[in-house]
Amino acid sequence: MKIAIINGPNLNLLGKRETDIYGNQSFETYMQTLQQMFPDISFTYFQSNIEGELVNELQRVGYEFDGIIINPAAYTHTSVAIGDAIAAIKTPVIEVHISNVHAREDFRKLSHVSGKSVGSIFGLGLKGYELAVRWFVSN
Ligand code: DQA
Repeated sequence: MKIAIINGPNLNLLGKRETDIYGNQSFETYMQTLQQMFPDISFTYFQSNIEGELVNELQRVGYEFDGIIINPAAYTHTSVAIGDAIAAIKTPVIEVHISNVHAREDFRKLSHVSGKSVGSIFGLGLKGYELAVRWFVSN
């Protein structure tokens, strides 16, 4: 099984960035844990701070992968292009947010991604990515 994980802007700073909200762990470290938890899954991990690169990656992995887990970060709330890319591709997508976006500023309540995804997970920290993988494994 092939699963792509795609993270948007500023998530390269996980572990250093607003640690009260996003925690102390870098995503690279978390990826190692995830790979150990699911040794039979082939993961690819892509992070970019640039909207068009996220669209390119969705198009690249969107036809032959079994699942995509995306945290578009701030682009969730602004990017029609990322929403359109998810609607265009064939691979099912799960949206993940580390924080509970509905318990924060109002602008974070809008997602251009939720309506195009099979489901969304928010507020469960990095564990949200693991739960998304489990959904793909069991479906
Ligand atoms: C985030 C929530 C977004 O509102 C924010 O812009 C992020 C991270 C999260 O994982 O909680 O950068 O996607």
